[in-house]
Amino acid sequence: MPDGSLTDLLRHGYLPGQERIADAYGRTFTYLRVSVTDHCNLRCVYCMPEEGVPWLPREELLSFEEIVTVVQAAAACGVYKIRITGGEPLVRKGIETLTGMLARVPGITDLAMTTNGVMLGEYAPKLAAAGLKRINVSLDTLDPEKFRAIARRGNLGDVLAGLRAAEAAGLAPVKVNMVVLGGLNDAEAEAFAALTLEQPVEMRFIEYMPLEEAKGCAMGSGGFGFVPNETTKARIAARFGALEPLEVGDGMKGPAEVWKIRGAAGRLGFISAMSAPFCKLCDRLRLTCTGEVRSCLLDGGGVEIKSILRGGGRRDDLIAAFRRAAHLKPEVHKAWDEIPAANMSRIGG
Ligand code: GTP
Ligand code: 5AD
Ligand code: SF4
Repeated sequence: MPDGSLTDLLRHGYLPGQERIADAYGRTFTYLRVSVTDHCNLRCVYCMPEEGVPWLPREELLSFEEIVTVVQAAAACGVYKIRITGGEPLVRKGIETLTGMLARVPGITDLAMTTNGVMLGEYAPKLAAAGLKRINVSLDTLDPEKFRAIARRGNLGDVLAGLRAAEAAGLAPVKVNMVVLGGLNDAEAEAFAALTLEQPVEMRFIEYMPLEEAKGCAMGSGGFGFVPNETTKARIAARFGALEPLEVGDGMKGPAEVWKIRGAAGRLGFISAMSAPFCKLCDRLRLTCTGEVRSCLLDGGGVEIKSILRGGGRRDDLIAAFRRAAHLKPEVHKAWDEIPAANMSRIGG
């Protein structure tokens, strides 16, 4: 019989008696993406304008202790996977300390991060030592000049050094995220796919999602065009032969449909949020850096929890807020009809 002990929590993944978070369409939530800052050291064209967005003052951001309180409450009702996001999470001072705090929350068995990789050369060993398990690195081009055009800051060499450091630190499997931008980097799809021939990386091709903040420089205004993943997959298959579909094992499910070039060491992931929404399988909640819980990146709005945290942080109130957020989740997003007002650098993708 479950007895509510720590052993029980570890065995069942959540406290008996505390129901998992679910929504009206039968989806349950076991994955929380935690944005720790809106700040970023890059200005990717698909994410924000060149001059950046007005950064939030420090006191608007949740403290490490507040983030941990939210994660403990989430773990108590079945969340076992946490992904630390940003902005760029590595620009938040002391991020390795927060990583260690999150790694110690009972019930959290999968702790990952998504980063632009610029500072990863320095941070990968510290993060691994603190208990981070896996890392996803955004990289949209293998050409140093194009890197400047797309990210507008930083340099490719640092990201490549970051990827090597992540592998050396055992943050495996490393996943590389490329947002496919028609006319800018779509012709590099084959070169990125070729990285998987020898290396055990998962190379992910991501369809651009039109969000409010990036609108000025995006589709239709001369910046870049939308490329459906069918097109990207077809050009890779034309070069490397028919791709093999892979079954994604438990604990590895995510937004990506996973394929492989025959005989390759690594895998290819296609994230097609626009042409083939994966909302039906979505198991994630999001905590924004300002203390809002959202159940959808592209739709549905959020539930403010900063006032709960700053008014004592009662676990039951937090869990009730998760449930309210879950019920705001749409069955399928409507981003084709209405550009979401969402702000990627505060929600964390
Ligand atoms: P894994 O756990 O490794 O599968 O990570 P992930 O793919 O969930 O995380 P990552 O931060 O690497 O996100 C990759 C891309 O998928 C980014 O462009 C995200 O914005 C997008 N993405 C992740 N989750 C969702 C989601 O629930 N909805 C939509 N529309 N996009 C998502
Ligand atoms: N569409 C698709 N992916 C995006 N990302 C950021 N903005 C967008 C967008 N508008 C990706 C980044 C990073 C992840 C968190 O989200 O490249 O890999
Ligand atoms: Fe920074 Fe990520 Fe936005 Fe690029 S996509 S500007 S790396 S927050």
